[in-house]
Amino acid sequence: MISIEFVAYDTKLLKLIFACVDGKTTIKVEGLLSPLLKKIEKQFDPYLKFLPAQIRGGTLYLSTTLPPIPSKPFERLVYSQIKRAFRFHTPDNLTIMVTKSCQCQCKHCLVHNMEDDAELSKNEIFSVIDQAQKLGVSQITFEGGEPTLREDLSELIRYINKTKATSMVVTNGQYLTEDYVQKLKKSGLDYINISIDSPHPLEHDMFRGVSGLFMDTAKGIRNSVRSGILTGILYIARPGNCDRETLKKLVSFCKELGVFELLIDKIVASGRWTGKDVLNETQEEDLIKFQQDIAQVEGKNLITNFFQFKKPTVFGCFAGRRWCYISPSGEVMPCMHIPISFGNVKQEKLSEIWRKIRKHPLFNRNPKACTYEEAMYRENYLKKIIGKGTLPYYIEELDLA
Ligand SMILES: C[S@@+](CC[C@H](N)C(=O)[O-])C[C@H]1O[C@@H](n2cnc3c(N)ncnc32)[C@H](O)[C@@H]1O
Ligand code: SF4
Repeated sequence: MISIEFVAYDTKLLKLIFACVDGKTTIKVEGLLSPLLKKIEKQFDPYLKFLPAQIRGGTLYLSTTLPPIPSKPFERLVYSQIKRAFRFHTPDNLTIMVTKSCQCQCKHCLVHNMEDDAELSKNEIFSVIDQAQKLGVSQITFEGGEPTLREDLSELIRYINKTKATSMVVTNGQYLTEDYVQKLKKSGLDYINISIDSPHPLEHDMFRGVSGLFMDTAKGIRNSVRSGILTGILYIARPGNCDRETLKKLVSFCKELGVFELLIDKIVASGRWTGKDVLNETQEEDLIKFQQDIAQVEGKNLITNFFQFKKPTVFGCFAGRRWCYISPSGEVMPCMHIPISFGNVKQEKLSEIWRKIRKHPLFNRNPKACTYEEAMYRENYLKKIIGKGTLPYYIEELDLA
């Protein structure tokens, strides 16, 4: 049995070590400040052993949702956890929805009724990146709409300071030609997550409203894997696409293409999916069981059930605590599923807007569930938003209404 240790954080007061034994990872915290991270060690450890750990060039990659270990961005993530222990929350991930445009009409999409105000310019996005890095983020994600429709995407990626944050693109994958992927690679892109909604080509095309999309996307995934960018498939589980047979076919597809991670999250009744069915507890448990069964059969991990991490018994809701979203026109939201703006980066500093989010009763406490599932959000906010036209809504208006 070979055990390889990766020191993720090493100061006089705190040492954080990840040990990788036969593809399974464990975490160890040492030093005077270790009690601050013990809770995380205890809560995260059972999940860690199922992450698709891979060692590349002496660096440990656990998931496309985490910076590599060791790396400066990961050190910043650890530092952010230490601050969190003192109730000082700064975002770990900033997601910029760089455009509202998209060639698809997905049945669940939450972007379709967002405002049509002018998109942020390249320089405005540069400024948001600077401000987010100053605030402490360790990962910056570009999505949309469809981020590959934005001509300056590779310039935006290149602008990220590698010693501060890793970069990620979330895309429907249709335009990931060999040349385009090389362009992303040259701009320094670390991770890419490509959305698939069914391993059955026709079903995927019908769900996304574009015929032939599945074949183009499969080519895009292949190009991305070949380029060496750490590539994941992002699968949004909903009633109807997560029975065992479908999932087995999805796993075969992932293996055939050689993707690093199958990242599964659950559908949210937002956007076009408002009022529609979401997963029930049994379906969530089945996904967890399936992940474990696949790990056993394959002898290595592939699936990350991301929705588990948002449970109150693990990290709790990420909205406005670990996550910050910027809409195509610069509105700052706690999460893409909570279409409430706390300010616009064209008019206010990101740090000031973040302070407003942190002070708000929706986010200045430990929630019992994901914010969008909580009665407090549904009664006092969601009811006022549904069917009211373009999003996002302004928090001041909702609080007064
Ligand atoms: C909004 S899309 C933008 C990036 C790109 N166009 C794509 O489809 O990957 C980002 C991710 O959000 C997911 N998504 C869209 N609507 C959702 C919903 N109602 N619940 C959960 N995820 C959703 C998509 O499946 C996709 O994986
Ligand atoms: S989920 Fe992505 S691909 Fe689908 S319509 Fe929305 S932005 Fe476009």
